[in-house]
Amino acid sequence: MTYEDFPTDDQTVVTAGLPYANGDLHIGHLRSYVNADAFTRGLRKLGQDAIYVCGSDMHGTPIAVNAAEEGVSPEEFALRHHEQYEETFPKFNVDFDQYGHTHDETNTQLTKEFVRTWEENGHVFEKEIDVAYDPDADQWLPDRYVEGTCPYCGEHARGDECDEGCQRHLEPGEIEDPVSSLTGNPAEYRRREHKFLRLSDMQEHLQGFINRMEGTSNAQNQPREWIEGELQDLCITRDLDWGIDYPGESVARDDSGEAANGSDDLVLYVWVDAPIEYVSTTKQYSERTGDFDWETVWKDGDGEIVHVIGRDIIQHHTVYWPAMLEAADYAEPRAVCATGFVNIDGKGLSTSKNRAIWAEEYLDEGFHPDLLRYYMATASGFEQDVNFSWDRFAERVNSELADVVGNFAYRALLFANRNFGGTPEAAVSDDVETEIAQAMDDYEDALNDYDLKSAGERAVALARYGNEYIQRNEPWKLDDDEAAPVIRDCVQLVKAVAVLLQPFTPEKADEVWAQLGEDGSAADATVGDCLQAPPAEFGEPEELFTKVEDDRVEELDEKLQAKIEAASTDEGDGEDVSEASDTELEPLADERITFEDFQSLDLRVGEIQSAEGIEGADDLARLEVDVGHEVRQIVAGIKQLHDLDDLPGKRVVVVANLEKAELFGVESNGMVLAAGEDADLLTTHEDSEPGTKVK
Ligand code: 2FM
Ligand code: ZN
Repeated sequence: MTYEDFPTDDQTVVTAGLPYANGDLHIGHLRSYVNADAFTRGLRKLGQDAIYVCGSDMHGTPIAVNAAEEGVSPEEFALRHHEQYEETFPKFNVDFDQYGHTHDETNTQLTKEFVRTWEENGHVFEKEIDVAYDPDADQWLPDRYVEGTCPYCGEHARGDECDEGCQRHLEPGEIEDPVSSLTGNPAEYRRREHKFLRLSDMQEHLQGFINRMEGTSNAQNQPREWIEGELQDLCITRDLDWGIDYPGESVARDDSGEAANGSDDLVLYVWVDAPIEYVSTTKQYSERTGDFDWETVWKDGDGEIVHVIGRDIIQHHTVYWPAMLEAADYAEPRAVCATGFVNIDGKGLSTSKNRAIWAEEYLDEGFHPDLLRYYMATASGFEQDVNFSWDRFAERVNSELADVVGNFAYRALLFANRNFGGTPEAAVSDDVETEIAQAMDDYEDALNDYDLKSAGERAVALARYGNEYIQRNEPWKLDDDEAAPVIRDCVQLVKAVAVLLQPFTPEKADEVWAQLGEDGSAADATVGDCLQAPPAEFGEPEELFTKVEDDRVEELDEKLQAKIEAASTDEGDGEDVSEASDTELEPLADERITFEDFQSLDLRVGEIQSAEGIEGADDLARLEVDVGHEVRQIVAGIKQLHDLDDLPGKRVVVVANLEKAELFGVESNGMVLAAGEDADLLTTHEDSEPGTKVK
């Protein structure tokens, strides 16, 4: 199937990955929700009939564990967070057309319907498998209740995912050396019957689907290794009493008809009912408004479905979810767009270390939500990581929103108001009309490429053009007759910028809209309106943006550092954990090497030329290092530990004759030396040239 460009005649559903109802929202979450929101608004600008739906992910073991720790029921715990999300999202102008939760009646019923259809279509089977069990607690250990070693990469893994290593989904029974997270004791594997969705039935479909699927290249490429290889069937039940009950009889029963293993608490795996919430919220929206046909989109395939997710859940959305849809005779998504992570000051965001900017905390600092929206959507391409620092945030706000957009709109509208009472009577010049038309085309192309950064920056580029245009034509030196056509052009440019920027900064766009004397909201304008004349009369404008001053940045940085330090002190119970571990020096090696052994190492001074994170690998960065004779590509485990943007130009020491290796599909030709857990990079004291031998 090939898709036409947006806009199409079909109704469209844009979704964002459901947040677990399990904690406070931070800017790492906001990235996906803001991007999906801006993308939906962008599609509407192109004339697409699009809705944006999402909901809270209420089930799963982390919620059950946290609720138990708090001494409340999982339902009460999850609902509390759900309600908190319902309040927080609108504060960032994340405007869901429907926001539900996975525990509601619609999703419960629809999930059961999905499972029944899978059974009717013959895609479900029962199998006896190893399930971790805690004999002391006399309890099964689904997902997060068990920790151990990932069988694929050997890293520490928790529950159903290898979140510290290869990020793979782990099926029950796969974790090696299982330990109960309830008691900390070794867990046993016991045999237990569970239900499985036979993914191999859908393999051919998935192989076709992945070639049809649009979106970001990480989502298009990463699943290929799974889809091409032998597809592991998906265990769809769990021994837990929090979730949606498996429809019909419980799975495991002994001869007496009693539930085997003392439990009939089987529920559906959280990743079954979670994506079905995308359909449930569309259904709820259709029923509430009467102007959307959820079945046409989801069942008949006459619609466009776009999923925006974090890149850690690509497998769920490009393998499991399309298989679940196919097995239930539903339509497939048109696109999956996977965003990179959000780093703070060059290091991975960590809620446990409080290296995070919390959503409410950002607002409490008095910043306008649209500033963060613009930053989150344009700081990097969709699939790259965003490196948040207050410094970079201030830089973009000041140099793009304040100096360019705000400055241009204010100058142009003030002149128009003072000299002409609004839009001067004159025609828009050919040059300006062509420039606006070009911006409209570029914008449309960017959205069709799922490239929000380019779309947002195109709007700002149009404002930059406007600023240069007003500067070049110096209307303040002209009489009114001569100034009128110039200001007419500028007013049109302001309107076009407001229309194109609206998906990113909806409130600010509405402020400009009102300043232009336009009725309604800039949300209702389409790209075509960029060339429609604004009203003849409007009032005096106000400045749109306030700059973030340097001392404010300094203060925010200090606050961030202080809270990170406070968290590490708490964690260490009065002792700084990282410092404590640094002082535990590894013992010196007993075994001596010969001088010849040492000489066999070809150590060279290198100069880093570029550094970028490797897609899909949490810790790895790809460096280009000049080692005198040539530039080497070297993979180093420093992604979380250094601000990669600061590395170009730095001198390092390279083991130049280490055998080549391939990490995450990237060849590493050498090794960069670094000290300790923080990968403190070795460098030279004076400026030895790249290629100089270290001896
Ligand atoms: O990984 C997560 O945060 C999940 N709560 C996302 C669910 S997305 C969907 F498929 F439901
Ligand atoms: Zn792993």
